[in-house]
Amino acid sequence: MNYINAPIPSDCDVKIEIYAIINHVLGMEQGVYKEGVYQKIGDFSQKAGYLCLEQSLGMESGVTFFLVGHDDQNYQALLQKAGILGHRLYVISEYLGFGCSGIGAYYDEEVMAFLQTEGMILYALAIGR
Ligand SMILES: Cc1cc2nc3c(=O)[nH]c(=O)nc-3n(C[C@H](O)[C@H](O)[C@H](O)COP(=O)(O)O)c2cc1C
Repeated sequence: MNYINAPIPSDCDVKIEIYAIINHVLGMEQGVYKEGVYQKIGDFSQKAGYLCLEQSLGMESGVTFFLVGHDDQNYQALLQKAGILGHRLYVISEYLGFGCSGIGAYYDEEVMAFLQTEGMILYALAIGR
């Protein structure tokens, strides 16, 4: 219990970049979004499923998100921050009736290559269908 209740470090001012693979969203083109800006246009749903350790939830989602951070000196705090951001996304998606799944299993290095980032892939989430 002491361990579970230990203080959560909150000195993490490192920005977490939010990448979104738009698979099936009415009124939006399919493609890869970084911080709300299209990086690539196209149907990457199969790729998204593959990157999520070949789990279909990454392919069948409306949107598959990857949260990316760049500071490996502050890894624990960064990971916890990604968890908080990810679960805000989880809660709002459930509230809006889209549904959400956290995804902890993905091919880190292949996600980095696909997103063209040197950052660490901290968390993935799939929302909607
Ligand atoms: C950090 C985290 C990582 C997860 N990773 C996966 C995953 O890789 N694959 C998967 O099928 N579910 C994963 N889940 C579980 C789903 O998010 C979800 O909670 C679970 O499928 C239960 O869904 P249900 O409430 O619809 O039954 C993960 C959950 C969390 C919190």
